[in-house]
Amino acid sequence: SAAEKDGFDYFMLKEIVEQPKAVADTLLGRVSADGQLTLDEMRLTPAELRSVEKIAIIACGTSYHAGLIAKYAIEHWCRIPCEVEVASEFRYRDPILDQQTLVIAISQSGESMDTLMAVRYAREQRARVLAICNVNGSTIPRESDGVLYTHAGPEVGVAATKTFLTQLAACYLIGLYLAQVRGMKFGDEINAVIAQLATMPEQIEKVLDTVEPVRELAHSLADADTVLFLGRHVGYPVAMEGALKLKELAYMHAEAFAAGELKHGPIALIEDGLPVVVVVPSPKGRSVLHDKIVSNIQEVRARGARTIVIAEEGDESVRPYSDVLIEIPAVPTLLQPIVSTIPMQVFACELALAKGNDVDQPRNLAKSVTVE
Ligand code: AGP
Repeated sequence: SAAEKDGFDYFMLKEIVEQPKAVADTLLGRVSADGQLTLDEMRLTPAELRSVEKIAIIACGTSYHAGLIAKYAIEHWCRIPCEVEVASEFRYRDPILDQQTLVIAISQSGESMDTLMAVRYAREQRARVLAICNVNGSTIPRESDGVLYTHAGPEVGVAATKTFLTQLAACYLIGLYLAQVRGMKFGDEINAVIAQLATMPEQIEKVLDTVEPVRELAHSLADADTVLFLGRHVGYPVAMEGALKLKELAYMHAEAFAAGELKHGPIALIEDGLPVVVVVPSPKGRSVLHDKIVSNIQEVRARGARTIVIAEEGDESVRPYSDVLIEIPAVPTLLQPIVSTIPMQVFACELALAKGNDVDQPRNLAKSVTVE
């Protein structure tokens, strides 16, 4: 009903706006001001977490994209080898699992059959399974050894929005907690990131306040046939998420590439007027990648692409090559997906609305896929 939508025309629009609170609720009671993380509720003991030698993340769709981002964070903070795979492929390739393997199963619904079957398989192989899930008491957390709930509240729109941002928050919490219990020495980095993580709800709020130009842009692109997305490092999975959202909601062809791969083939696709969305890493810290992606933007633009650039506020180096520049707050590199995903969500949602599509119930899709 209209009341349930709080005055919004679609649940998706409401759920995008709910993201600051959703992420705050995921962090609530788990991060304290002094940088201490409390995750005992996961039911995995610090001793068990210290014995982990390898991590395998399994998930589908948008949850898989959260897993890809988690890999960058976990390997950097914890130095534990971490692989990420779509759940539907995992158990069919004889993966190497044992008691020292921690499998992290990410599923908003807790009911995706592909992920559930992968969880069952992993447990048969004696791996420990930790679920990240939004639905209390659903099947995947019930069948796992431990669970961290995301507390995003019910998500009605078929396209995952607030559950994705809260999955990211949960992945960061797990990565930072693993680093803490394993005594990783990173000087002040871990503590600084924990402090920054606590401020994410405000940063999300800022993005939501400045996202209006994305709506106008989306409406101007309603007739495009295809949109390409480029990113690097954690911006690459964000680009993948942007492309998936566009397929799901606007029924448009969309594809994401790691920007460094452009020259290995995809650059041949660039032609006059083709919209290319680029996620730019922070100019600080990761300056090498930043400069490389700026030259990618120049390359595609020189070949006629219409460049839509998502970059940190104050990053003037991209402005001359951006047909549309979308600014996001400066946050630590690994946390950037929490803010850079939001323009992607709004872009896909508005483009779909411009085409007259029902963004809550896109054709051919179901909220949870309970068949293999
Ligand atoms: C996301 O917008 C999609 N609806 C879909 O890719 C989804 O993320 C996927 O089916 C996984 O669902 P789950 O998180 O409930 O397991």
